[in-house]
Amino acid sequence: MSTLLELATETAIAAGRFLKQNVGKIKQIDRKLGQETNLVTEIDRKAESMIIERIRKRYPQHGFLGEESGGQETDSEYKWVIDPLDGTTNFTHGLPIFCVSVGLEHKGELLLGVVYDPNMDELFTTEKDGGAFLNNKRIHVSTTNKLGESLLVTGFPYDIKTRTDGIVAHFENFLKASQAVRRLGSAALDLCYVAAGRFDGYWENSLNPWDMAAGVLLVQEAGGTVSDFRGFPSTIYQKPVLATNGKIHEQMIEMLARSSK
Ligand code: IPD
Ligand code: CA
Ligand code: CA
Repeated sequence: MSTLLELATETAIAAGRFLKQNVGKIKQIDRKLGQETNLVTEIDRKAESMIIERIRKRYPQHGFLGEESGGQETDSEYKWVIDPLDGTTNFTHGLPIFCVSVGLEHKGELLLGVVYDPNMDELFTTEKDGGAFLNNKRIHVSTTNKLGESLLVTGFPYDIKTRTDGIVAHFENFLKASQAVRRLGSAALDLCYVAAGRFDGYWENSLNPWDMAAGVLLVQEAGGTVSDFRGFPSTIYQKPVLATNGKIHEQMIEMLARSSK
């Protein structure tokens, strides 16, 4: 394991344990500006500063993009992309589906990713060209090649109430075409579960870089495919994401095109 991955791992585990210890102990729940259902707690903020402080101590020059503190650019070629608590709505309800996601870019390319789920004690790790791992064991995407036999997962953006249109149409079409569709409430875990072969495919309309930095690399390194809804290569700075085992990718693109009309 590289020194950088070791640091990302230690940091994600420490923050994840902190989250778990604080379930049910939230003192303040705020709503993000203009978004009634987009919650943030003091625990999200504390977890993010813990992560950044720990990394900055070792690499004071590195840049950061954290969900709660925004972009902190430097001249460094390294940028850490952090979601300190992915699954905040679940967390505020005491639903144990949430995680910490830490990704690292080098010259704009994903170099490594770590997602830690403190409830299941599951650690997902990856490094570019080094494969994907769950608790140090290699993981691979599933081999399902029929959409009708696929278990899919999706998520909804916080502004869903004002734009159900295409999003609900995609959801309805996939419900009809797949074996089943789930909605866990943590995009980072959705991606990890595609990487581990638990889900065959995942789509979501409107993600942020911190939701997917680690998860996208995990899916790719587990042998899966990540693109935009039309199948074009995408970056973590584009909103829509389609991540699959590769085998059902085209079938999902076709379905997404149908419900976009
Ligand atoms: C959210 C979760 C959710 C997804 C949303 C994300 P947060 O992140 O990942 O599953 O549907 O798009 O914003 O706010 O819990 O960090
Ligand atoms: Ca998130
Ligand atoms: Ca978050």
